[in-house]
Amino acid sequence: MTNSKNYIGVFDSGIGGLTVVRSIMNIMPDENIIYFGDTARVPYGTKSEKQIREFASNDVRFLDQFEPKALMIACNTADSVARETLEREFDLPIYGVIEPASRKAASVTKNNRIGIMATAATVRSGAYTKMIEIFNRDAQVFPLACPLLVPLVENGRFSKDDIVVTTILKEYIDQLTVHDVDTIVLGCTHYPLLMDAIKSIVPEINVISSSDAAAEALYDSLRRHGLLNEGKGGKHRYYVSDDAESFSRNASIFLDEDLDGEVDQVRI
Ligand code: DGL
Repeated sequence: MTNSKNYIGVFDSGIGGLTVVRSIMNIMPDENIIYFGDTARVPYGTKSEKQIREFASNDVRFLDQFEPKALMIACNTADSVARETLEREFDLPIYGVIEPASRKAASVTKNNRIGIMATAATVRSGAYTKMIEIFNRDAQVFPLACPLLVPLVENGRFSKDDIVVTTILKEYIDQLTVHDVDTIVLGCTHYPLLMDAIKSIVPEINVISSSDAAAEALYDSLRRHGLLNEGKGGKHRYYVSDDAESFSRNASIFLDEDLDGEVDQVRI
């Protein structure tokens, strides 16, 4: 299993990256996936750049031993801060979330005004603004740090009928609609769980999931390179740096289905 070079390695600071896994499974059900969630050190979004780079390096070093055919940074925070470090340190085909989500936002906006909801570290990095401007020079980007959303989702609070969720979301979204944005990027892999709640507040706005965009871009690339797995359903394996049981309990919410692979706690 471990040396076939036929795995996609996926990592996140914790459980949020499972929204990327879910999208990969939807588009590429035959792909084998090895997931690492750094649940002992989540969240990354409130940490310094130096710390995020170091953690991301540790995460990829762990996955590198499985010789993945593709490495997915399923964390906007790590992608925005540690991408260059990872590309320098590892000889792996690295994929991320920022570029595909930026490309999609740049192409769907009609008025060239795009809001970004993300962690503080992602916003500080300016990664989305830089990337969107590459795809659409006329775009104006309005990044907004939404520090309350990761803890909310981690605590299972994301329903559109939850008054706490909608109150917090409205406060954030108002800060974007004031700029007349017609498109909002969910620039954190935890946020797709809030999609319905966000859509119920601003049904007229395009809401882009960086998780879906990343999986779609990965599919295109693997297909172009003739690297898609054509089998009878992929195998999935999960590793975490903290308690495996609590990860297993919450994983089904992020995956939108029961966890179908083993989970092990590892030291990295
Ligand atoms: N899921 C991570 C992201 O996409 C954020 C969670 C965290 O702060 O660690 O940015």
